[in-house]
Amino acid sequence: MRTRAIRLETHGGPEVMRFDDVDIPPPGPGEALVRHVAVGVNYIDTYHRSGLYPIASFPSGLGLEAAGFVEAVGTDVSDLAPGDRVAYAGGPLGAYAVQRVLPADRLVRLPAGIPFETAAAMMLKGMTAEYLLRRTFVVKAGDTILVHAAAGGVGLMLCQWAKALGARVLGTVGNEAKAALAKAYGCDVPILYTRDDFVARVRAETDGVGVAVVYDAVGQDTFLKSLDCLRPRGVLALYGQASGKVAPFDPALLAAKGSLYLTRPSLFTYTARRVDLLESANALFDVVQSGAVRVNVTGKYALAEAALAHRDLESRITTGSLVLVP
Ligand SMILES: NC(=O)c1ccc[n+]([C@@H]2O[C@H](COP(=O)([O-])OP(=O)(O)OC[C@H]3O[C@@H](n4cnc5c(N)ncnc54)[C@H](OP(=O)(O)O)[C@@H]3O)[C@@H](O)[C@H]2O)c1
Repeated sequence: MRTRAIRLETHGGPEVMRFDDVDIPPPGPGEALVRHVAVGVNYIDTYHRSGLYPIASFPSGLGLEAAGFVEAVGTDVSDLAPGDRVAYAGGPLGAYAVQRVLPADRLVRLPAGIPFETAAAMMLKGMTAEYLLRRTFVVKAGDTILVHAAAGGVGLMLCQWAKALGARVLGTVGNEAKAALAKAYGCDVPILYTRDDFVARVRAETDGVGVAVVYDAVGQDTFLKSLDCLRPRGVLALYGQASGKVAPFDPALLAAKGSLYLTRPSLFTYTARRVDLLESANALFDVVQSGAVRVNVTGKYALAEAALAHRDLESRITTGSLVLVP
C-alpha cells in the first residue's frame, strides 16, 4: 500500500527531509500497521538527520515516537487488534509518516484518558525522565538536583517528576521566559546560564556542597562545569549533546573533582526488554494521569513541515514538546 512519509536520501540540514509517497508492505509476523494521529519531535531526530548519529542506509525514514490506531496486525500478533489506541518511543526510524509498519512488541496501549497528541509529546521524553530519575540515579526526597535546559521537552518533565519525588530542583535555562516556564513546571531555582555563572549559583544554593546529580543533555558547552556542580561521589548523567559532542577527557578528572560517577545512558538500553518498556510507560502514565507531570505541547506542525520544526528546535527558541500532525 501507499502512504506519505518524510524520507531522507542523505544526511544534512532540515532541507534534506522530503515529504514523499512511499510503499509499505502489509505487517509481517510480529508486526503491526499503525495509522499515526500525532508524531513526536525529539532532539535525537536532528542528530539522525544531520549525521551526528549516522543512519546505516538510505533512503531512510526518520523519527522515533508517535501515537495512533492499529490498522492491521501480522499473523502471530494476538495481543493487539485493529482499532486499538497505541503509542511508542524507540526504533526503528520511521515515525515521521502517516502510517507505518513496526514491531508490535514496541507498542504500548494508550490509556483512554491520554489524548494522542499528549502521548506523542510525552512518550520518548517522559520515559527518558522516568529512567533518569528512577533508575540511572534514584532521586529521593530531600535531594538537590541540577537539570540543564530545564524548559525543554525532557527538561520540563524532569523538573515536575523530580519535584513529585520530593527533590529540590535547580535548573538552567537560556532566557527569562524559559526561566518563568521552568519555575511554573517545578524548577525551584531557574538559573540563566547564558548570563550567570551556573557553577557559582549551584555552589551558593547548596552551601558550597554541590548537587547529588546533574542531568546534562547540553553536552559540549556544559560538561566540564557540570562536574564542578557535583557533591563528592555525585553522579553526572550525560544523556545528550544539544550544543555538540563532548571532547575526550582524562578519567582522572573524576577522581580530582571528588570521586565522581559519569554515565552516558540511553532510553534504548533502559527500554530494550519489553518488561522494562511497559514498566517505564506505566510509571509515566501514572504521573501524567495523576496530574503530577503535565505535558506541555508548545508547537504543532503539519507533518509536511517537519523541516520547520527542526529549524525551530535547533535554533533554541522552543520550549516543552513539539508534535507533527499527519
Ligand atoms: N539519552 C537519552 O535517552 C535521551 C532521550 C531523550 C532525549 N535526550 C536528549 O535530551 C536533550 C533534550 O531533548 P529534547 O527533545 O527535550 O530537546 P529540548 O530540550 O526541548 O531542546 C534542546 C534545548 O537544549 C538547550 N541548548 C543548549 N545549548 C544549545 C545549543 N547550542 N543548540 C541547541 N539547543 C541548546 C536549549 O535550551 P536553553 O535555551 O534553555 O539552553 C534547547 O531548547 C537532547 O540533547 C536529546 O538528545 C536523550
